Amino acid sequence: MSSAPPVPDLQEIPADTACLADYERHAQARLDPAHWAYLQGGAADEHTIAANLQAWRELTLHPRVLRRLADGHTRTALFDRPMAHPILLAPVAYQQLAHPDGEIGVAYAAAAQEAGLVLSTQSSTPLEDVADAIVGDADRGPLWMQLYLQHDRGFTRELVMRAVAAGYEAIVLTVDAPTSGARDRERRAQFSLPSGISAVNLRHLPARPERPLAVGQSALFNDLLHDAPSWDDIEWLRAQTRLPIVLKGVLHEDDARQAASLGVKGLIVSNHGGRTLDTAVATATALPRVVEAAGPDVAVLVDGGIRRGTDVLKAIALGARAVLIGRPYVHALATAGALGVAHCIRLLRDELEIAMALSGCATLADITPEVLYRPR
Ligand code: FNR
Ligand code: LAC
Repeated sequence: MSSAPPVPDLQEIPADTACLADYERHAQARLDPAHWAYLQGGAADEHTIAANLQAWRELTLHPRVLRRLADGHTRTALFDRPMAHPILLAPVAYQQLAHPDGEIGVAYAAAAQEAGLVLSTQSSTPLEDVADAIVGDADRGPLWMQLYLQHDRGFTRELVMRAVAAGYEAIVLTVDAPTSGARDRERRAQFSLPSGISAVNLRHLPARPERPLAVGQSALFNDLLHDAPSWDDIEWLRAQTRLPIVLKGVLHEDDARQAASLGVKGLIVSNHGGRTLDTAVATATALPRVVEAAGPDVAVLVDGGIRRGTDVLKAIALGARAVLIGRPYVHALATAGALGVAHCIRLLRDELEIAMALSGCATLADITPEVLYRPR
């Protein structure tokens, strides 16, 4: 006679969890298949998801030996704010899909592990509640607000003002998703948000004005994209707040140059974790040219496929000032709530320290392009 499987204790970290990939397995076993399809999936054939992982893997390291490593550390700073290490949590929508503690659990974990946190516009918890949970923590990492420009610029302005008032320290404008990608996996699984989970920060957003389509017109080009952000909006946004503006989703060096000329303070080289334009270039591949074009005054960060301390080391070697992880911490959240997320960040921090020590780098400043193997 078979008995029902035991209900997993969500607050317990499975003993066989040694790295971020282990959390992926545990999360899939725990999550509803349609929720998994949303959280894990990407656009179309998911080539870019695979390419992100592969591009980090294919960079090989060229370690140095016998260097002094005592008193090394992973400390850095962004926008003059010190950080214990260069790892931030990327904005991920609807985290209550993964665990009832959702964004609040993630925020406590990030603060406990001194990681930066970027909250999604589409978070399932009000931005004020997330900030209130951790702003008083002296050791926490930076807290940034991710912004999707809304069709109603007055509402968007209010959203920014709310973030400023709540204590967010930068505005991260996502620019790679004027529409969402062709999310085949999500559609096959017939994903829809369960009742009780919604983009609560947008609750009072006025309805989009109707834009009747003439025969032959496209719902995308003739309607939806009228609200998409453009370069003019960067100046508009800069006029709304003194917080640093970071653009997320830049892959092209010419866009990096234009952003720098408009006073943008940071760029996140990202392809949205392969969720928008499938077959877009891997982030590790795009990073060096963006770094070069952005110039010394713009902090360049990167996300997409970062799963190992060695990936973080490689990103720093290619000129990134910091990295973000997306899916891995959602897997940890689904597996073991806040404790899982804290453990996930700790694992990556430890792996980064090990990678630095074994490649002969005592500080992030020591991680130069020479740490990457270049065939003659
Ligand atoms: C995202 N991402 C994202 N980005 C953003 O700017 N705003 C958002 O609301 C979301 N939402 C979101 C939901 C889910 C389920 C995923 C997986 C991703 C993209 C995210 O910030 C980041 O760019 C990628 O997740 C990084 O790639 P990895 O680490 O997931 O490979
Ligand atoms: C996503 C949107 C919310 O990737 O950015 O699901």
